[in-house]
Amino acid sequence: MINIGVLASGRGSNFQSIIDSIDRGGLAAKAACLITDNPEAYAIERAKRHNIPHVYINPAAFKSKALFYQRIADELNAFGVELVVLAGFMRVVKRPLIEAFPMRVMNIHPALLPAFKGLHAQRQALEYGVKIAGCTVHFVDEGVDTGPIILQEAVPVLPDDSEDSLSARILECEHRMYPLAIKLYAEGKLKVSGNRVKIATVMPIL
Ligand code: GAR
Repeated sequence: MINIGVLASGRGSNFQSIIDSIDRGGLAAKAACLITDNPEAYAIERAKRHNIPHVYINPAAFKSKALFYQRIADELNAFGVELVVLAGFMRVVKRPLIEAFPMRVMNIHPALLPAFKGLHAQRQALEYGVKIAGCTVHFVDEGVDTGPIILQEAVPVLPDDSEDSLSARILECEHRMYPLAIKLYAEGKLKVSGNRVKIATVMPIL
């Protein structure tokens, strides 16, 4: 059983997919806490509903980003968190948090990285005119949407897609993919080698 700490800024549907996977028995993890930078985040309602402790940390209350991320790291440590899960946390995570949890911070991004980093990835994909979009779960390093890629899944871009319809198609993948990535981590099946993540598979005994 692994203790995970979730960071979210908004709606929290990925947070919910993780909670649901735990509740179904598909993921041997405990959501130890939710940390948010937004007191209005709907993710807080989800945490309350499932009796998950939630903490709002106001970034404006800190003199520097480093102090803000140090405070988040301290809070996660106080909850005994082993893996940090960014679920729609709309900030670039800085060093104190990454150093406190090396290769133990995951992010989900609604694009096939390294394409369409940053905000509004689905809109960027539509504007570029790609025919294939998708989502990525990766370990977080100090870059913006960089770091070793754990899982990716592609979805088609359909001729009549709007930003909303494409986002919804990608979100379905996200909700499957994030619990799976956490499960693989919890089972010790992810081995990071340079920028590559190798996923151990269990070979059947013949
Ligand atoms: C998700 O689509 C996630 O991939 C994206 O924000 C959305 C959050 O939805 N994250 C990023 O763009 C991070 N760069 P949710 O709050 O319902 O999980």
